[in-house]
Amino acid sequence: MSYRVRIENTQHEFTVEEGEAVLSAALRHGLILPYSCRGGTCGTCMGKVVEGRVSYPDGRPPALSEAEEAVGQALFCQARADTDLAIEVREVRSADDIRPRKLPCRVERMDTLAHDVRRLWLRTPGNERLQFLPGQYIDFLLRGNRRRSFSLANPPHDDELLELHVRQVPDGRFTGYIFEELKERALLRFEGPFGTFFLREDSPRPILMIGGGTGFAPIKSMLEHAFHHGIDRPIHFYWGVRARHDLYLADLPERWAREHASFRYTPVLSEPRAGDRWNGRTGFVHEAVIEDYPDLSGYDVYMSGPPPMIEAAKTAFAIHGLDPGHLYFDSFDFAVDPEDDPA
Ligand code: FES
Repeated sequence: MSYRVRIENTQHEFTVEEGEAVLSAALRHGLILPYSCRGGTCGTCMGKVVEGRVSYPDGRPPALSEAEEAVGQALFCQARADTDLAIEVREVRSADDIRPRKLPCRVERMDTLAHDVRRLWLRTPGNERLQFLPGQYIDFLLRGNRRRSFSLANPPHDDELLELHVRQVPDGRFTGYIFEELKERALLRFEGPFGTFFLREDSPRPILMIGGGTGFAPIKSMLEHAFHHGIDRPIHFYWGVRARHDLYLADLPERWAREHASFRYTPVLSEPRAGDRWNGRTGFVHEAVIEDYPDLSGYDVYMSGPPPMIEAAKTAFAIHGLDPGHLYFDSFDFAVDPEDDPA
């Protein structure tokens, strides 16, 4: 059995299955409602039921008072629909709708993705979840008020663990610490989410995505979000790296291309090595994009990667008709700070 839910302030509608939390159903349909703990303790997901009835299988959650419940307030991370519903709740439409928070986290596990790329999986405390938009980043908080930024590679709907792809920066003390000293179960602190590099879902335009190196991370988050929510705008992803061994997780975009008819994937190597046996595209990644799309005037373009790649692409894409209002980018700063020190 399922019920219809209508969000009064936006007129968006979705269905919720019997026994499913209203928040979970909304997220499943690509509607982002505010949340934090998803455990009934923080109150972030509170809204109002203006028509219909909800109930709580485990009793009224701690962050909902009797008085609030009496006037129709509800915690949608816990509320189950007993009838069709009309609700009032603020939808998250932009990065400004999510307040960055400082949170501790534990390194749940780590794996090596390439000779200079390591993946970290972070767990936030039991009753805390980080809400973010696909493409945003967090800052690790280090000693001496220093910070190091890393994009979230997991999509928002899969938020039990936070996934980061960390590239080792030569002489970078913090990334050196991650590669040489950091152990599973270590505790770190971060603040986030930050950034305006996130997927604009209200545009009808086809999408070009360009990632350089670990610029793949935020693009992975966006793509997994898009696939999960059935966004079927054409998406062509170009991944620019130096050599074949830099294409970490290479089977992932290949699999997406097999599974999603509207998705295309083109890896581009700038300096293939003799042993690479590479028959694919070579050169600068932005030049490969222009070869395939000489007129960019009808596209939304997302790109993330090192500053030289971003700068070269911005200039070239403007010449090829890209409207700057449809260009979204995240310039990774790999600057080395010898004073970096892990907290
Ligand atoms: Fe914290 Fe619902 S998200 S109470």
